[in-house]
Amino acid sequence: MQIHTSLAALRAARAHAERVALVPTMGNLHDGHIALMRAARKHANIGAVIASIFVNRLQFGQGEDFDKYPRTFEADCEKLIAAGVDLLFAPDEMQMYPQPQHYYVTPDPELASVLEGAFRPGHFQGVATVVLKLLNIVQPDVALFGKKDYQQFLVLKNMVRELALPIEVVALDTIRAADGLAQSSRNSYLSATERAEAPRLYRQLSTVVEAVRNGARDFTRLEAAALAELELHGWKPDYLTVRRRADLQAPQQPDEPLVVLAAARLGTTRLIDNIEI
Ligand code: PAF
Repeated sequence: MQIHTSLAALRAARAHAERVALVPTMGNLHDGHIALMRAARKHANIGAVIASIFVNRLQFGQGEDFDKYPRTFEADCEKLIAAGVDLLFAPDEMQMYPQPQHYYVTPDPELASVLEGAFRPGHFQGVATVVLKLLNIVQPDVALFGKKDYQQFLVLKNMVRELALPIEVVALDTIRAADGLAQSSRNSYLSATERAEAPRLYRQLSTVVEAVRNGARDFTRLEAAALAELELHGWKPDYLTVRRRADLQAPQQPDEPLVVLAAARLGTTRLIDNIEI
């Protein structure tokens, strides 16, 4: 695997490949990331799989975990090599932000101000800005993202469409541990006791999904019951809510495709998860 840290070197290397797939990450790679790398490799006619690792300051709010975000570069490289990644782009902050960033992507406020956007103001602007920059640097034909960050995926898919970028955006299902916990870099913050408790988030989402699939439409009651169950077990939930898949607004019509999404704090760790209904 080639590793490039400068924009110039990455661009020179990318020029040798025809169809390229990009998997942007912030490192601390887990099975979910590796599934994305393997899916990238299998995608039609891909000549080179490029991964990026960059912990993007712009998407972290005041008091969030930018400084303590796990940086595990050596272990990440080993995983990427094992997954058959051809090229890693791992810029430092001076490469990505040689001067303070003045130009930002402002995502659709209807989509970006709800759920994660309401609890993490500016987060999706930071995500969209760095991803547009990565797409401009790498110029991939395909970009892959995990559905665990469901709202992020929608923001990025819509950005690519509205800005007419010639890139196919692919979403992959969430990879889970055997007990249901969604794979996430932030799982490494959990103590042993918290790790044992953590799958409750998925179980509560599953309970809501089952009820809705069985015909329940009283979303408010279902959401309140799931939130109460989490609180009973020491969680501090930000939200657990049934939304339309298309735009994450409240359901309006009987037959709309839905998704149930949640964010909740367990100790000091904030976990998010979702299930399509
Ligand atoms: O999902 C992530 O790891 C990040 O938000 C991304 C897409 C790499 C942008 O920094």
